[in-house]
Amino acid sequence: MEVEMKKNVYPNLFRPLKLDGLKLKNRITMAPLYLGYAALGGKTSPLLLKHYERMAQSGAALIVVENASIAPGGSASPRTIRCDHDRYLGGLEGLAAVIRKGGALAALQINHAGRFAHVAEPVAPSAVPVFDRTPRALVKKEMMTIQRQYAKAALRVKKAGFDLVELHGGTGYLLAQFVSPRTNKRQDAYGGAIENRLRFPLEVVRRVKDLVGDFPVGYRFLAEEWLPDGLHVEEAVVLARALEEAGVAYISVMGGTYESFFLPEIIKKSRHPGYMVSLASAVKKSVNIPAITAGRISTPARAESILKEKKADLIGLARMLWVDPEWPSKPRQGLDRAILKCSPKCDACLQLVMQGKPAFCPRWKKEKRREYRELYQ
Ligand SMILES: Cc1cc2nc3c(=O)[nH]c(=O)nc-3n(C[C@H](O)[C@H](O)[C@H](O)COP(=O)(O)O)c2cc1C
Ligand code: SF4
Repeated sequence: MEVEMKKNVYPNLFRPLKLDGLKLKNRITMAPLYLGYAALGGKTSPLLLKHYERMAQSGAALIVVENASIAPGGSASPRTIRCDHDRYLGGLEGLAAVIRKGGALAALQINHAGRFAHVAEPVAPSAVPVFDRTPRALVKKEMMTIQRQYAKAALRVKKAGFDLVELHGGTGYLLAQFVSPRTNKRQDAYGGAIENRLRFPLEVVRRVKDLVGDFPVGYRFLAEEWLPDGLHVEEAVVLARALEEAGVAYISVMGGTYESFFLPEIIKKSRHPGYMVSLASAVKKSVNIPAITAGRISTPARAESILKEKKADLIGLARMLWVDPEWPSKPRQGLDRAILKCSPKCDACLQLVMQGKPAFCPRWKKEKRREYRELYQ
């Protein structure tokens, strides 16, 4: 009886949603979170499977697995999951299976890292230097190859038994590099006005949809680059509308790229709960497909008010779910206050993965850290 009463505390959060033929049992999704758990070379590993099993058992409706590379030249790190060859299919099948067995729908995010790829000669829309490297500008033929690689990778996601595929258009990776006026200086039909800059990602969406057929395709979306000469939300919504027209199932909104994440004012901003909700809300107003919002949504009460105020349709939890996989179940037992919080001043997980190390949260009990360390290969 008591549990029943608690269920009604957050009616919007625990309300199901139909999404492109799928039924989400509630509004809680796991946002993609790369933690360096895959094996070197990008195959799945025992730790990766354990981690996603826990995430799926949390009670979240949908688990979006971290970025997986669509091409060897587009991999973001040596431990990025690979989806660029049929030899990875067996491992991906195992990954989809543990998530579905855990009670959640499974999605895999696919990506080409472009100028941030972990390769000797990264490629990008234009040769715009980044940190200490300058990528080579892609020629049209290579762009068409990459589009085919996206489509083939998406088909593998479908064949492996996932429920949907997400295209990574955030974090300043290749799709976002085409949209941003800062990184796309092309003089051809793929550069210049926003209508041209969104051509490449839209062609990718169409190619993917043509090949996967009746299979939902979501889109992680860069709404705001947080750099003066970068992409801003007014232009980004033009892409959002085009994505809706192209038949994308949802838009998962985020802000920032590797070039802005570490600016002092952005570090400060991202310590605030719900720091990307206003971006999701702006995108949601311009489209009719569901919008996901993420970013320090640390309590179910905050998630409920975001949904109630119609600022987003779905809640994305990345670190928030990883630090405490009981985030979705505690409120149903009246235990909101017992949710383990990610510390706003900590960025250990990000720092560790950027140094090529696996992330284990200092907030966990030491037994859990030990268990994860022992599984790491
Ligand atoms: C260590 C780390 C890895 C991440 N990996 C990905 C990723 O693979 N793909 C992606 O779209 N976003 C990634 N993100 C962004 C998260 O999905 C999310 O938008 C962000 O962390 C805010 O949500 P949170 O406060 O619940 O963590 C990552 C974030 C962190 C901190
Ligand atoms: S407490 Fe630190 S390591 Fe843990 S999730 Fe938060 S930022 Fe990451």
